[in-house]
Amino acid sequence: MKDEIILAIESSCDETAVAILKNGEELLVNTVNTQIKDHQRFGGVYPELASRLHLHNITKVVSFALSLKGFDYNTITHVAVTGGPGLPGALQIGVMAAKTIAQYLNVPLISVHHLAGHIYANEYVTPFQYPLLALIASGGNSEIVYLPSPMHFEIIGETEDDAIGEAFDKVARSLGLPYPGGVWIDKVSQDPEIKTFPLPKPKVDGYNLSYSGLKSHLVRLIEKEPKDENGNLPEDVVKSYARSTEVHFINQLLDKLHQAALDKNVKQVVVGGGVSANSYLREEVKRRFANDNIDVVIPPLWCTTDNAAMIAKAAHHMIPLGLFAPMSFTSEPNRSLEDEGK
Ligand code: KG4
Repeated sequence: MKDEIILAIESSCDETAVAILKNGEELLVNTVNTQIKDHQRFGGVYPELASRLHLHNITKVVSFALSLKGFDYNTITHVAVTGGPGLPGALQIGVMAAKTIAQYLNVPLISVHHLAGHIYANEYVTPFQYPLLALIASGGNSEIVYLPSPMHFEIIGETEDDAIGEAFDKVARSLGLPYPGGVWIDKVSQDPEIKTFPLPKPKVDGYNLSYSGLKSHLVRLIEKEPKDENGNLPEDVVKSYARSTEVHFINQLLDKLHQAALDKNVKQVVVGGGVSANSYLREEVKRRFANDNIDVVIPPLWCTTDNAAMIAKAAHHMIPLGLFAPMSFTSEPNRSLEDEGK
């Protein structure tokens, strides 16, 4: 039988990435060009700059992937691309590149939902068992998603205001930590001796979440803390805020995830998105489910940030369902996860 070779492209935010996946298992190439350093001075992703950098980088990143020794690009059977959600200009660059390659090779195109990619990244660890529950925690999303079968998504819980990563980044900024703040909150929270303090628990219905009130409360407290002559907070104060924020924010997520998993009687729980790199989350999620006979999967660290390997993996599951995109498709910056597969 002919090998299935998927070339996948991801450019929804600040990473230009290309991967090649053979028969859904063998990752031949996975290359990521990150723009984090370029956006650092703006304290967040600057959309216009992101588009320009994608345009500048896309040909180089695709050429690098295709230069794999012994690889013949004529063996590519499908081209997959993140079709949304994401930054409009950034998405368009990846979509244009994908269309060009698919048209040149005369192979089918697959438009993948970015969050489906974050969920299916976990299949690099182990095959999925359905029904499963996915937790997506990133700079733009905090969602609890139920999957009764492959590529079917029901959002059963979501943030009512800020995403957890966004809230981490804002608290980190007021602590004087660099962007992306969540990474630094994690870094400075490693010392087990750090003293944490209690924070109020937001009252949110069902499996929904809320971070905005907590974030504002923390920022107000931090503003009142005495600073040195350069405007910096003492190191122990920064650590104490960082660790307390981390534990509190993540416990809110895990309390809801645990309850939802028991109520929905799922076989597996998977996590994804940038915040799934968090050390406390990665340890604590396993501890929470230790006595529940539910398989807990956390993605490898390389697969927590945006990449095209996860897009290829999701595309691999879309092929048997016939979920192809016409050459005329356009990127959808606000694409909904629940409309997938319909
Ligand atoms: O999924 P992602 O790379 O980008 C999108 O939002 O699409 O997630 C980025 C978010 C940022 O808010 C960043 O601060 C957070 O993930 N993040 C972390 C960690 N690594 C990245 N938050 C907490 N702990 C980490 N180790």
